Amino acid sequence: MALVHNGIIENFLELRARLEADDHELVSETDTEIVARLLELQVRSGIDLVTAMQRVCQQLEGAFTLVAIDGEDPDTVVAARRNSPLVVGLGEGENFLGSDVAAFIEFTREALELGQDQIVVMTRDRVDVTDFHGRPVEAKRFHVDWDLSSAEKDGHDWFMRKEIFEQPRAVADSLLGRRDASGRLQLDEMRLADEELRDIDKIIIIACGTSFYAGMVAKYAIEHWTRTPVEVELASEFRYRDPIIDATTLIVAISQSGETADTLQAIRHARSQRAKVLAICNTNGSSIPRESDAVIYTHAGPEIGVASTKGFLTQLVACYLLALYIAQVKGTRFGDEIDEIMEHLEAMPGHIETVLSGADAVYSLAADHASSRSVLFLGRHAGYPVALEGALKLKELAYLHAEGFAAGELKHGPIALVEDGLPVLCVVPPKGRDQLHGKMLSGIQEVRARGARTICLAEEGDTSIEPYADELIRLPKVPVLLQPLVAIVPLQLFACELATVLGHDVDQPRNLAKSVTVE
Ligand code: F6R
Repeated sequence: MALVHNGIIENFLELRARLEADDHELVSETDTEIVARLLELQVRSGIDLVTAMQRVCQQLEGAFTLVAIDGEDPDTVVAARRNSPLVVGLGEGENFLGSDVAAFIEFTREALELGQDQIVVMTRDRVDVTDFHGRPVEAKRFHVDWDLSSAEKDGHDWFMRKEIFEQPRAVADSLLGRRDASGRLQLDEMRLADEELRDIDKIIIIACGTSFYAGMVAKYAIEHWTRTPVEVELASEFRYRDPIIDATTLIVAISQSGETADTLQAIRHARSQRAKVLAICNTNGSSIPRESDAVIYTHAGPEIGVASTKGFLTQLVACYLLALYIAQVKGTRFGDEIDEIMEHLEAMPGHIETVLSGADAVYSLAADHASSRSVLFLGRHAGYPVALEGALKLKELAYLHAEGFAAGELKHGPIALVEDGLPVLCVVPPKGRDQLHGKMLSGIQEVRARGARTICLAEEGDTSIEPYADELIRLPKVPVLLQPLVAIVPLQLFACELATVLGHDVDQPRNLAKSVTVE
C-alpha cells in the first residue's frame, strides 16, 4: 500500500496511542504513518480500500489530503480530502489528482471541483466521488482557461523570472472586460447586490504574506475612494482576537492559491458571524472562492515560482477595481473620477514594460550587493507595503536579513540599525500636493547621514531625489495610489537576481511551500 498525505492529523497522538496499545510497531514519528497503519489494518481484515478509506477518514481530525493505492489493485487510486486541497483532472483514458490545477494543465484543462469531506475513486477512465460515508455526490466540472505555455519557463532560468516578465500581460488580462459599453465598471463574479454593498459600513481584509501586503495597499485605495473604513488583518490572527463583525461587515479575503488554510479558517469564522465574504483569488475551483459569497478572479495564469510576483500585481488590480466598484455603487465623490483612474490603470501594462526594460541595471545592483548581510527597505503611504513586500522577497529568496519600514517610523527605533555601507532601498512617492515626498526625502537623508548606501526608486523627472541617492532606479510617472504596481517590479528583480547570484534555488526556496495548506 502506498499513501501520500498532505496536512496535519490533529488527533494523531490519540490514534497513535491506540495503535501502540494494540502492539502495532510504528517505525516513524509521523502522523502520516498512523493513517497508513489504520488503512492497512482495515485492508488486512478483508475490507476493500475504498471502504477502508471511508472508515479511516471518519476517525481523523484536522486537515488532510490522502491519496492511496493498494499494490494488489494498482489501477485504482483512492483519495480523500478535508480542509486541504485536492482537484481532479479529467483526461482521455487517464485522470489526474493534484492539489492545484497547475499540476496537470499540461495534460488536461477539464477538472472537477471536490467539496470538503469527499472521497474520489479513480481509474484510467472513471471517477466516482462520494462523501466519507460512501454516499455519491455530484462534483462540479469546470474548464481551466490557463495558457499551456504558462506551465513552462519559456527560456528563462526560473519560473519566477518568467512570471515577473509576464506581469504586463497579467495586469492587462486582469483589467479585461471590466467595463460595459457605457464605461461603467462591472465585475461579473461579484455576486453581491448593489444594495448589500451599499449597506456595508466596514471592510476587513484578511490575507497572509504577499497577499496581506496587497491588502495593505488596498486599504489606502478603498478608504480614499469610498470613504469606507478598512482594517487589514493577518488571517492567522483574525479569528483569535474576537473581531467585531456583523452582517454589515464585508470581509475581503485575498489569496492567490485559494487554499491557504489560515485564510480559509478566517473566512469560515467571519461567515459564522454573518459577515459577507468576497474572495480575490487566482485559482478557479479552489476552496476560498468556493466558500465565499462573491469572488473577483485575478487573471495571472498559473504562478509556479514559490515567491508570488504576478499574483501580487493582479491582486492589486483586483483591489483597485473593487474600490472603484464600491465608489460607483455608493456614489462617492470619486465615482466621477472612475474613468480617469481606469485610464491610468489601463496604461499600467505599458509602464510595467518600461520598468522591465531597465532590468539589467537592477541586476547589476543586485550583484553589487550580493555580499550584504542585511538590507532595509523604506516607504511611505502606498509605498510602505511595497517596502514590506520587497523585504519579504529578499528574505525568502536570498535568505538575507531584510526589513521593511514606514519611513516615518525610522526615528522611533529602526534607525539604530543603520551603519556604514548598509543598503537601504527607498520607495519614493511621486511629488504631489501633500508633504509625502518631502518627508520621504528627509527620511532618506537621515539614513544616508549615518552611512547607509541608498538605492532610491523615484519617478522620472524627480531631480530633487538626486542628492540623496547613491543609486537611482527610475519609475514611470503614475498616481501615488497606483505606484505599487510599478515600484514593486525592480524589487522583485533585485531579489530574484541576488538569490541567483548566491546560487539559491529561486523557484523552490528552502522551507517554503507554494500553498500553505496547514495552519
Ligand atoms: C511570498 C508568498 C507568500 C504567500 C502567502 C499567501 O512570496 O508567496 O507569502 O503570499 O503564503 O498565499 P496565498 O496568496 O496563496 O493565500
